[in-house]
Amino acid sequence: MSLRHTLSLAVVLAATAGLAHAAPASDEPIQPLEAPKVKNAGMVELGKKLYFDPRLSKSGFISCNSCHNLSMGGTDNLKTSIGDHWQQGPINSPTVLNSSLNLAQFWDGRAMTLKDQAGGPIANPGEMASTHTLAIAVLQSIPAYVAEYKKVFGSDKVDIEGVTKAIAAFEETLITPNSRFDKWLKGDKKALTKDEIAGYELFKDSGCTACHNGPAVGGNSFQKMGVVEPYQSTSKAEGRVAVTKEEADRFNFKVPTLRNVEMTYPYFHDGEAATLTQAVDTMGRIQLGKSFTKEENAKIVAFLKSLTGDQPSFLLPILPPSTDATPRPTPFE
Ligand code: HEC
Ligand code: HEC
Repeated sequence: MSLRHTLSLAVVLAATAGLAHAAPASDEPIQPLEAPKVKNAGMVELGKKLYFDPRLSKSGFISCNSCHNLSMGGTDNLKTSIGDHWQQGPINSPTVLNSSLNLAQFWDGRAMTLKDQAGGPIANPGEMASTHTLAIAVLQSIPAYVAEYKKVFGSDKVDIEGVTKAIAAFEETLITPNSRFDKWLKGDKKALTKDEIAGYELFKDSGCTACHNGPAVGGNSFQKMGVVEPYQSTSKAEGRVAVTKEEADRFNFKVPTLRNVEMTYPYFHDGEAATLTQAVDTMGRIQLGKSFTKEENAKIVAFLKSLTGDQPSFLLPILPPSTDATPRPTPFE
């Protein structure tokens, strides 16, 4: 009898016995995250600097990291983000962690790739409020940036193509492997507690994995928010219909990744769920028509917290100083 056969037989036996044994990783709806392979270290390093550089904003104060703080799970932990001139943003800032695994970027998927996405916030008046022309002029005026850019792209003319490409290359490294859940998936049976395993079984048996599956536990489909019961929100966001103009896509949002979800509060596109307990309760009710008991909810939350992986770790980039020729920030204009 092959090993594979023995394993599946063991799983069948365990299942019939009602035991919560893990099936071989390949049969699970969730797969472990693998550490990223860095293809171009120079480009990643440049992208990291740009990601942290507030001089890409009009105010000289807002960087990608302001709203996707890599010390806080790649989010700002606010209901909706704060943009230029302290403007209230329209929607919750999703995590940049593992975002390279998304089928598209943004809640409504309006950007296909990380590179397409990265140019948006720089020129968005409600976010960094600069222009691509101004942001490029700032970088072009800083010789250390130009030299680094030339090393990576072979040209000393900085352009938005290269800038967004480098930022995307950095973002592709923001994968969070080695969560306790992944260790368990890979066979370390002691990596999870009894309650966490029970939470995972509930997560599967209740139907959460119909939408939250794959290595990112989400990020791979657009789904209706409010399948069984309509979702009440004061947010103006309409979801995927804004992109496709198909009425059927109204309130379809990209299913968020649940990796590191313990760190990425508050939850949902409007940030209305302050806690995981609340988010799980809402999901059960409006997506599946299920009311979880307090104990069931706590077990699912315990499982979700086991999805926190190794956070990106690197030296804080030291940014090359501006020169006399660098356009100055105008935070109050
Ligand atoms: C002022 C806050 C703010 C700043 C600054 C900002 N973002 Fe965002 N970011 C957001 C918000 C809010 C969204 C969600 C918008 C939406 O879906 O409509 C978002 C979405 C994203 C996404 C999509 C993630 C997903 O799962 O869909 C990525 C990737 C991202 N931003 C990267 C960046 C990068 C790179 C920068 C810097 C160039 C940046 N952001 C600057 C607030 C910000
Ligand atoms: C029919 C698809 C579907 C099912 C089933 C489903 N979800 Fe979701 N889930 C979504 C979508 C779509 C969102 C984002 C909705 C939004 O913000 O408007 C979401 C958001 C979440 C969030 C918030 C994540 C964040 O970063 O904002 C959590 C937590 C969550 N789901 C957990 C669960 C749990 C637990 C279950 C099972 C009880 C479940 N989901 C079942 C589609 C689904």
